[in-house]
Amino acid sequence: MRRTETKRRWFLCNFSLLVVTAFPLVVANFSYRFVNARQGNVDLSGNWLVQTPNSDGTFRRSYFNLKQEGPRITGSIRVTQFYYLIQESTGGPDGFTLVATMKDGKNERRVQYEGKLIGDELHLLTRRRPEDKPTELVAHRAPAGEGAMPARIEPPARHKVPYNGLAKTPPMGWNSWNKFASRVDDATVRGIADAMASSGMKAAGYLYVNIDDTWEAERDAQGNIQTNKKFPNMKALADYVHSKGLKLGIYSSPGPNTCAGYEGSYGHEEQDARTYAAWGIDYLKYDWCGARNLHSDEEMPAVYQKMGDALLKVKRPIVYSLCQDGRLDVWKWGAEVGGNLWRTTGDIRDTWDSMTRIGFGQNELAQWAQPGHWNDPDMLEIGNGGMSETEYKTHMSLWAILAAPLLAGNDLRSMTPATLAILTNRDVIAVNQDKAGRQGSRLWKAGDQEIWTRPLAGGDKAVAVFNRAVEPATVSRPWTELGINSKSKVRDLWEHKPIVMEGTAYSATIPGHGVVMMRVSR
Ligand code: GLA
Repeated sequence: MRRTETKRRWFLCNFSLLVVTAFPLVVANFSYRFVNARQGNVDLSGNWLVQTPNSDGTFRRSYFNLKQEGPRITGSIRVTQFYYLIQESTGGPDGFTLVATMKDGKNERRVQYEGKLIGDELHLLTRRRPEDKPTELVAHRAPAGEGAMPARIEPPARHKVPYNGLAKTPPMGWNSWNKFASRVDDATVRGIADAMASSGMKAAGYLYVNIDDTWEAERDAQGNIQTNKKFPNMKALADYVHSKGLKLGIYSSPGPNTCAGYEGSYGHEEQDARTYAAWGIDYLKYDWCGARNLHSDEEMPAVYQKMGDALLKVKRPIVYSLCQDGRLDVWKWGAEVGGNLWRTTGDIRDTWDSMTRIGFGQNELAQWAQPGHWNDPDMLEIGNGGMSETEYKTHMSLWAILAAPLLAGNDLRSMTPATLAILTNRDVIAVNQDKAGRQGSRLWKAGDQEIWTRPLAGGDKAVAVFNRAVEPATVSRPWTELGINSKSKVRDLWEHKPIVMEGTAYSATIPGHGVVMMRVSR
């Protein structure tokens, strides 16, 4: 490579010298273009590809579609699912900078590159944040048009997608993302299914084993979605999970790419739904991500409706989970597009702050939950190690009060007895799975202490007293305010024992970040 470069420079130098001697004036005006013609393309114009292999046999691809006009570089940059337009540039082949942006709902995403043309390669440096060490990338020329965003497909006219009859109570199961992200594979999923069946999770109601992003490969010549090396045979995996009395879930995006940059369902909705049905899939999480480059937020309902229709058409019961961070007040239209659940927030993390910001932020949404259609404040982090046992009990209690899907996000193969006990608390699960399907809400709040209640079938009620402070706190409220009278039976759902009514008020000291959860029966 270095030898070719030296030869090229030598040639350029001598050739230019000759031309300069013979035609000084012409060269002054046209040398840039002349060199350009000799070299093929010595400027930056063209389509450039950075291709990085993933360990699953797929590639992560970024395309730099550049146009150089004198000192200005324009064009677009596609980093998997993100499509940026170049807004600012300086320099040229010997050294340049690019700043490109994309609109993401109300936010703007920005990328920045420094680069240089070295021989046939475009060498690039990029940083996530100015203080980060730069990542080095090398781009090669790619055919024009390769990697371009597909043409926009007009979303369908809106109509109501009939209810599929599923998820009469909030779905329970497991999802791979929180613990495994891109490391999920066939063996892990089988191991999780084994653990779910043998640990008591299945007996407690956990049913769905859901594979999140990164199972996908590219499409075959007929447009059928393929699995990557990590999932050699999805049908066989579904058969295995079914043999355990469990169900298998999968993930995709309405865009050309998923959030992790894998193949999405754009323009292949019905074909993918047929593939899922043929494999024996029982649950689909459908994540907006890559669709944002082709559709406005206002078009989301129509775009989600398309897959809602496609899933109904295949005649296999498939739970439909919408994932778009709660944009455009999804709770108002999620059911109409066939959704059984819809994410109400961005991604949860395994921290007290993240979990409580999400969980305690759901109060306004209670009216939109009903059997078959649930608000989804994201998957559980219980057992992933970032919170204490007390905090995980708060997490579980809050999700139960919220009638939220209970999708464990930990490694079920190696969980501690304490984690298992939290996840399989039958009394708390009974609140979550209550047939009336009414989501709970905040009854009272003073500083860091809050009381939430949830009406249950048959006139029962769940009451949870939370202490969001680090230090223990005593909460006292009149029994009547909690809807508890002398005829009520009150049970502590974590201590598994009755709470005795004494005096006119409930009073208890709640540990820091802790909860007392009760069921009040008539
Ligand atoms: C988004 C979702 C996550 C997960 C990832 C996968 O961030 O909100 O739950 O599915 O994508 O890429």
